[in-house]
Amino acid sequence: MIEITGLSFVYNPGREDEILALNDINLAVKEGEFIVVLGRNGSGKSTLARHFNGLLLPTEGEVNVDGLSTKDPQDLWKIRQLVGMVFQNPDNQIVATVVEEDVAFGPENLGAPPVEIRKRVDEALAAVHMSEYARYEPHLLSGGQKQRVAIAGILAMKSKYLVLDEPTSQLDPRGRREVMETLRNLNVKEGATVVHITHFVEEAIYAERVIVMDKGRVALDGAPRAVLGDVERVKSLGITPPPMTILAHRLAKRGLKVPRDILDVEEMVRTLCSLS
Ligand SMILES: Nc1ncnc2c1ncn2[C@@H]1O[C@H](COP(=O)(O)OP(=O)(O)O)[C@@H](O)[C@H]1O
Ligand SMILES: [Mg+2]
Repeated sequence: MIEITGLSFVYNPGREDEILALNDINLAVKEGEFIVVLGRNGSGKSTLARHFNGLLLPTEGEVNVDGLSTKDPQDLWKIRQLVGMVFQNPDNQIVATVVEEDVAFGPENLGAPPVEIRKRVDEALAAVHMSEYARYEPHLLSGGQKQRVAIAGILAMKSKYLVLDEPTSQLDPRGRREVMETLRNLNVKEGATVVHITHFVEEAIYAERVIVMDKGRVALDGAPRAVLGDVERVKSLGITPPPMTILAHRLAKRGLKVPRDILDVEEMVRTLCSLS
């Protein structure tokens, strides 16, 4: 479990441009959860993400990963292995000139024996459905494929927690779908814990839990239906609700017997068909 207690973070403390980016965050991420984090630009999502594995250290409060504090320098390497990060730009994350070498990079740095590395690389590439690209040069891959290689790199380190900071924002719809399917698959089949930061609200519909950040705080935290169904509140936090949720609200306002927390087209169709 990742436990965040009373976490505040200040950039440029004591300077004129000092800014409180996180303001007293309390949050627990349990093993096996799939959490989507939403929030307008500047709400603190990336700053929070960088606290999960100690890339940033709290100004106040604590971040504990399986009982290890990110403030303890001795535990940091272990925490970095437990919590894998994937960032926005697929091109900045791949260091090797061959896909499988890139995936091997993490376990090599951890000092795993060669036979073990081989096994981990093969398993990781299979888990993200990239086995056939093992010998490819990364620059030949699409954005979605590159992000899947980045995810494989984390898996090869046997990271338990995957924290992804807008990994789909630079991808086309197909690449986004690939990455989302990969994450869902890893969560369901491999039991990976996923914290997925995104500005695409439709990626939150099928999460287990949705968190909305606002001004460095957790503004909303709950099941997608409860969070996204609160259309006015979600809008006030700078997020456009899913199109079907907006439609459901409009229909309900006009007096139709439609629940206001409909999330997708399937559900809308079923509801409308049952009305007549
Ligand atoms: N390296 C930095 N130095 C100074 N301020 C920063 C830095 N990174 C982010 N900020 C500020 O911290 C706040 C939170 O930013 P960020 O965590 O990047 O939000 P988000 O990822 O939700 O867009 C914003 O006001 C942003 O301008
Ligand atoms: Mg960000």
